[in-house]
Amino acid sequence: MLIGSRILTILLLLCGSLVLFRLRSRSNSPPVRLEAAGQSNQGGCSGRLTRLIDLDLKFPIKYARRDIIIKANPDLDRTSLTQIDAALLSDVQIVDPVKSPDSGLEQCSSPLTLEVPAFPRQPANASHIIFGISTYIERMEDSMPHLQRSLGHTNARLIVLAVEFGEVTPDSKEMAALETRMRGLGIKATVIGAPNNSLMQTRYFSLVKVLYEKRDSATQWISLLDDDTFLPSMYSLVDTLGAYDSSKEWYLGAMSEDWWSVMVYGMMSFGGGGTFLSIPTAAQINANYDTCTKESTANQGDIRVFECITAHTTTKLQPVTGLHQTDLGGDLSGFYESGRLPLSVHHWKTGWHFEQKPEQRALNTYPMAKMHLVSDVCGNCFLQRWQFGSNTILSNGFSISTYPNQNILAELVRNKEIDKMEDTFMPTREVNSFMKGYEHSIGPLRPRAEGKIQYKLLDAKAEENGGVRQYYVYRALDKEPDIVYEIFWTGNETQV
Ligand SMILES: *[C@@H]1O[C@H](CO)[C@@H](O)[C@H](O)[C@H]1NC(C)=O
Ligand SMILES: *[C@@H]1O[C@H](CO)[C@@H](O)[C@H](O)[C@H]1NC(C)=O
Ligand SMILES: *[C@@H]1O[C@H](CO)[C@@H](O)[C@H](O)[C@H]1NC(C)=O
Repeated sequence: MLIGSRILTILLLLCGSLVLFRLRSRSNSPPVRLEAAGQSNQGGCSGRLTRLIDLDLKFPIKYARRDIIIKANPDLDRTSLTQIDAALLSDVQIVDPVKSPDSGLEQCSSPLTLEVPAFPRQPANASHIIFGISTYIERMEDSMPHLQRSLGHTNARLIVLAVEFGEVTPDSKEMAALETRMRGLGIKATVIGAPNNSLMQTRYFSLVKVLYEKRDSATQWISLLDDDTFLPSMYSLVDTLGAYDSSKEWYLGAMSEDWWSVMVYGMMSFGGGGTFLSIPTAAQINANYDTCTKESTANQGDIRVFECITAHTTTKLQPVTGLHQTDLGGDLSGFYESGRLPLSVHHWKTGWHFEQKPEQRALNTYPMAKMHLVSDVCGNCFLQRWQFGSNTILSNGFSISTYPNQNILAELVRNKEIDKMEDTFMPTREVNSFMKGYEHSIGPLRPRAEGKIQYKLLDAKAEENGGVRQYYVYRALDKEPDIVYEIFWTGNETQV
């Protein structure tokens, strides 16, 4: 849902369909070769400390850096956790690039060559999907970077149905300017205005009709997104949709991760994770559009879509593993450190509305476009996990975790608990049911790892030569210096 809280309306009977994550097996993962590239350590140790000055840091800091050269290997599959014998980082050194801009690193390791599954260098072709977003034009500024990363240069079409704050049709010049900007970013966008004083839920529902009418001969799917739905891999999404015969009626999406919400709202596609309708289903909604619009009283657009499909077709929700409304509260580390690549993510920008305290929600927002940047270098490597040595796990784009007690990590890996999602979330709301919380969606879960130390992504930057620099930070307590790890990813040995 866009904003605001869902209000308990009706309790629906539960059906027992469970959405289980497809756990990717680690069992067949070939050992990944590791080699030092080139002869010189100069690339890793020389200069460059001054660029730390731009980061949100207080100096001095403890710092270490590593360059990673990726090598695409067509025989590798992405697995839950890939083991690398070597350590990721050398020891930290105290640096202060403000006071001593000329000082360099005394020690560093030579670049690491890391094999990743082969990935296509061209963006996916999603010309058969029209996406639709109903939003406030004022919110689009914020949405631009992640829409660009989700949809840019994929040939996917996007219809933005916009109103201004105050529920009035935006100025046509403003809409044209927005459209031009989005097209400049490689998004095939069309911006249209919604009528004055329309309701949010009516606007959302009307998107089905708008998208249906804007279909062309290539269109197979229409998809409703929220303005803060992020799609990490168009390749995976196109692949997933390809498993369904789009000439048949389909209503694809995912239920909430929160069992309470599923009990209340039922077997519907929760809008933030993305809803995908085949053209035959959209045609049915279009044919019954006036009746559905008149009869529905639901205060949320995604419920209205569900109601209309339920009333006028025999089609039921087909849950799609990997789509995420992300109704998860508290610390979402468990989700982002699970090694799983979601097809969609939501609620990363403002947290989940059941976390009532704004300051709590602010802690649980995630810089998605920065997190995702590294996929420019290594494809579907976003949120991929590697274990380096005996005590370090990199969850690419989210965190570097270390386990001072390496026995704890060894045990998690040995008994495959590491493949379960770590339950770092806020407690679920009590429901009087056999199913307590999040397990139907993201389970199985495991308890919080003891003594794990997290270095969370602070920033990521694209270099002109195509490499991506990531900074991970551990905010130290008291007056201790923060610890910062820099990882530079490149697909090109000459750039290190
Ligand atoms: C994308 O797919 C469409 C429909 O199959 C095709 O017409 C078009 O040429 C493709 N574009 C690219 C760049 O491959
Ligand atoms: C919508 O509201 C605006 C601002 O009140 C007004 O200027 C405009 O004429 C209205 N448009 C229509 C179609 O009624
Ligand atoms: C590697 O980067 C250099 C410098 O930017 C560039 O000249 C070269 O063409 C790149 N090589 C490849 C294989 O991308």
